[in-house]
Amino acid sequence: MKHRLPQLPYEMDALAPHISEETLRYHHGKHHAGYVNKLNALIKDTEYEEMSLEQIIHQSDGAIFNNAAQTFNHNFYWKCLGPKKTDPSEPLLKALKETFGSMEAFKEAFSQKAIGHFGSGWIWLVIDEHEKLQIQATSNAHTPIEHHLTPLFVCDVWEHAYYIDYRNERAAYIETFWMLVNWEYVSQIFEGKEHLRLSTTLPLCNNPDDPMCEYLDDLSHQDMTSS
Ligand SMILES: [Fe+2]
Repeated sequence: MKHRLPQLPYEMDALAPHISEETLRYHHGKHHAGYVNKLNALIKDTEYEEMSLEQIIHQSDGAIFNNAAQTFNHNFYWKCLGPKKTDPSEPLLKALKETFGSMEAFKEAFSQKAIGHFGSGWIWLVIDEHEKLQIQATSNAHTPIEHHLTPLFVCDVWEHAYYIDYRNERAAYIETFWMLVNWEYVSQIFEGKEHLRLSTTLPLCNNPDDPMCEYLDDLSHQDMTSS
């Protein structure tokens, strides 16, 4: 299977002025695309070639793991954001209040974890093995699905996510992040209405005379370069 860069679920300028078009073009079109392209190159002719993204994450290490996990994490990150103001559903809000005391306390705890995280990584809200909400930080490419936890949403704290707009001021990026969370999507995952269908794969085509292969190759190429 060939992994592909998913299109953003909104326009490149949709998150401005909080996250600029320039940031999205670099972050999606260079960084995220780079992980996808490297992954496809690394798994070619290996045991990982026919695996889903999730399977690769569970079974690989080193560069293949890093590029697969970064592909997965970014696929998810884009879906957690949106230009429209949304609110958590009643069941999610109730769970957040029960776990953290209040919505404000949850945001404060999440923000502090994000601001205090050393180096590159990701800050997550997850459902743990006891069906409880938890804030987790992972470094570099690491992801909660390695441990079979269900991510509800994530904040990318790699500098490439905010350096163009906020330079080294991670706290300013975190503050603005709250205005962009797509709570509708997060609530749907929480309530089991949305599954983490984040593997974006295209079948490999080995027959150059097959018009369908040509179509899929074109589609893949467009997705890789559309940003
Ligand atoms: Fe990123």
